[in-house]
Amino acid sequence: MLTVEKIKQKLDLKKLPKPVMVIDSETILDRFKKLNNLIDGVELFYSVKTNPHPEILKLLKEAGSGFEISSVEELSQIISMGVPRDKIISGNTFKMTQLIAEAYRHKINYFAYDSIMEADKIAQNAPGSNVYLRVVAADESSEWPLSKKFGAPVSQALDLLKYAIEKKLNPNGLTFHVGSQCLNPLGWSNALATMAEVYFLAKKNNIKLEVINLGGGFPSRLAKDIPQFDSIKANINKTINKTFPNEQLKYYIEPGRGLVGEAAIFVASVVAVAPRGPENWLILDVGVYNGLLEAAAGIEYEIVSDKQLNGLNHKDNLRPYNIGGPTCDSWDTIIKGYPLPEELNCGDIIYILNTGAYTNSEVTCFNGFGQPAIYII
Ligand SMILES: Cc1ncc(COP(=O)(O)O)c(C=O)c1O
Repeated sequence: MLTVEKIKQKLDLKKLPKPVMVIDSETILDRFKKLNNLIDGVELFYSVKTNPHPEILKLLKEAGSGFEISSVEELSQIISMGVPRDKIISGNTFKMTQLIAEAYRHKINYFAYDSIMEADKIAQNAPGSNVYLRVVAADESSEWPLSKKFGAPVSQALDLLKYAIEKKLNPNGLTFHVGSQCLNPLGWSNALATMAEVYFLAKKNNIKLEVINLGGGFPSRLAKDIPQFDSIKANINKTINKTFPNEQLKYYIEPGRGLVGEAAIFVASVVAVAPRGPENWLILDVGVYNGLLEAAAGIEYEIVSDKQLNGLNHKDNLRPYNIGGPTCDSWDTIIKGYPLPEELNCGDIIYILNTGAYTNSEVTCFNGFGQPAIYII
């Protein structure tokens, strides 16, 4: 995990532009290794949308990672790096037809689907392709649920597999997503039990599936406690051994947040402090529109001021702040009632920890603030 101490050892903070996102290569490689050992023989496809910084993609390509893409732009970025076609899959179940056609042109033939219309689009634009069916998984323990929009119910799964065959596609796998930032160490095991229902029903109907893709959802450290990676890993392996003991299956994962989340810190600075009745507002140079979009939908980051880290009486004298970003919009609020030192002044440094996931990939140009600087260490 990237720490403020490490940033201070490697960079002179006074000389850096603010706000700046510092990304740590070592943490990414460490996480890649861990996730790549989740299950014996697992194949890892990094979910590019999480953080498509070219240096991250290069690092992961060199480490042997595959990539999960969802748009023509992501596909072009990965293709231009010379990633082989069997290392690219698309997990988006609502693909633009241009993406399917463009992927097919590059001989990529592995697509997720969860509806009749998606199967039709794939059959039309990438005939004969391998497809994997996304089945809905329980996601109530995740901070970022996905199961309302994505995933076919178990009751429709067999019909959708049969439909793909009718359309001359090759349904060869199942996938699920437990929701991003899943806080239940049993989330994946429970979903695997659901996949087993579909897998064995398909087998009974002479549809032999070869791949189970466990998607993403692996958490990174944020304000709330997260389950231990080792406990998630043990539960997954126990369930696989118990549920599929004699099946010849390959396992894929598509992690995003769990791979890059803890690899970055936003180094921000105070723009202003203002009392509003009983509350105090702390305005930073980074906010919802220029890097912390998920904060507006409930993701809570750990935030710490340089003054606290330096001691100097600032550890005890804390007061709650509503912390906002720099734009002229009150929706630009990162968190409310967060304890930080009483004395904060314009220019003071504030760190927002573990911000490697869904941050710089979700920056808007609102109010002209745009993309904060990025340093890779
Ligand atoms: C299809 C797919 N795979 C993988 C991921 C990565 O999920 P996470 O960042 O929770 O690991 C996502 C995220 O939305 C996704 O939609």
